[in-house]
Amino acid sequence: MMEGAKGAEWSERMRAVAVLGAGGKMGSGIAWVALKAMAESDAKENGVPGSGRYDLVLIDANPESFRRLRGYLRTQLVKVAEKGIGDLRAWAKDRADLIENGEIIDAYVDGAMSMVRCEGDVTGAKGAKVVFEAVFEDLALKKELYSRLKALCAEDTFFLTNTSSIPISLLDQSAGLGGRILGFHFYNPPAVQKLVEMISGRQTRPELTALGRDLGKAFGKITVPAHDVAGFIGNGHFIRELLFAFGRFREMRAGAGATAGLKGPEALVTLNKATQDYLIRPMGLFQLLDYVGLDVFQMILKVMREHLDAKAADGVVFVDPTLDALLAAGVRGGQLGSGEQKDGLFKYERNRIAGVLDIDAITDGADGADGAEGGQGTKGAGIRYVSLGDDRFRAILDDTGAGTLGAFPVGHAPWSNLAKDPARKEKLAAYLAKLAESDAAGAVLARRFLARSRAIGATLVATGVADTHEDVSKVLMNGFFHLYGPADWTH
Ligand code: CAA
Repeated sequence: MMEGAKGAEWSERMRAVAVLGAGGKMGSGIAWVALKAMAESDAKENGVPGSGRYDLVLIDANPESFRRLRGYLRTQLVKVAEKGIGDLRAWAKDRADLIENGEIIDAYVDGAMSMVRCEGDVTGAKGAKVVFEAVFEDLALKKELYSRLKALCAEDTFFLTNTSSIPISLLDQSAGLGGRILGFHFYNPPAVQKLVEMISGRQTRPELTALGRDLGKAFGKITVPAHDVAGFIGNGHFIRELLFAFGRFREMRAGAGATAGLKGPEALVTLNKATQDYLIRPMGLFQLLDYVGLDVFQMILKVMREHLDAKAADGVVFVDPTLDALLAAGVRGGQLGSGEQKDGLFKYERNRIAGVLDIDAITDGADGADGAEGGQGTKGAGIRYVSLGDDRFRAILDDTGAGTLGAFPVGHAPWSNLAKDPARKEKLAAYLAKLAESDAAGAVLARRFLARSRAIGATLVATGVADTHEDVSKVLMNGFFHLYGPADWTH
């Protein structure tokens, strides 16, 4: 259960909340995080939630999403109520009618669900004191929405945007919000990821920034301040790292570098495995791209291209010819409302990688050097997948040490084991030292990514996007489940 409430301000404001874009992947997670905090406050004050003093309006232009959204919220409520039955019992101690655990859980879940109203139009946000906005990453759409909100809502309503890249000052100015907007960027999935990246624009009011910090605590999150530069810290790192991965992909196919001359599917599998297993991350970079969605990646790239050209001190060009070709052919990734992973660079069965895109059929001609103009892909070209069980991947996926990527350095353990290990810090430091010495092809490749990540972290600090290297690490470790930060690679 969440930490005790801090300050009257956040708990007063949390009595009237709206979430815009609540039917989407991020919006539904934010709706859950807000509902959980509101239900708990209500239960502490009134025994069980549902006193009528809390109102959560979930707004989405697609009303078809509401059934699934309500189902998701109810499932999450049951899960936390069962886990936190001791707290629920203590809060409901004066309710003589609630005796059995089942009765208390039902009262909690039904009471919390009674706070929720689903609305198809932004007018539903009228009475809100805090509006979380998680609509599509499109400046024109957000601008229109905020202009309507400004006209609708009271003058003291605060807006917390989940934009992952658009400068907050720009949103503020475009709708004339007078500093009533704060970047409050959750990471996917918001229910699980501990990070909220917090971005004040030039005019953001200090009391709103303070509220953001208190809300972060009340939600059980770690807030990390980022400066108002497109992409902020998280995507400042993630997008550059993905561009680097696509560059290495083209390099491999063109026959340069440590693992040269591979066909496209083999190169995708190799890079994904190196960035998962040798870097000890929960997912390889290309799987993470599927998770986020290629179209979302493209939207963020566009925003960064438009707003960073003059500021990208490391000379990165925010465009990628392979990505353009993939999108032109209809490769998208992303997730269904149910959380099921859609096919993208990989084919998924029960959210596990089962096949890899026959990418050569789509991107031939998009093989120029990093950032060079490439082919446009073949619109409507058939998207085909090759089974990962195919013989051609056997040597790449071989973990015995006899495969093409070679043996793991001494001290290697899967991410899922190390993530739970209290001694992981020391174990990771020892592992990275061995990785630095290894001649195995997987280790050589992993070192290039570590060097790149370290350089990106340094750029983010040097250009004032992040205050410190520690903040960059906090973002990667709490928003992406990394087990160490870029500056921990000292070799
Ligand atoms: N809502 C609530 N709970 C969820 C959830 C969701 N949407 N998704 C997962 N969970 C819970 C599960 O219920 C499970 O809980 P229990 O342990 O209580 O059973 C727990 O999380 C783990 O889930 P799984 O057992 O299904 O584990 P998994 O193997 O699928 O791993 C994951 C889940 C760790 C989140 C994994 O999918 C992962 O690492 N994903 C990548 C995360 C990441 O890097 N996100 C950042 C993306 S970038 C971004 O968000 C910013 C941007 O602007 C682009």
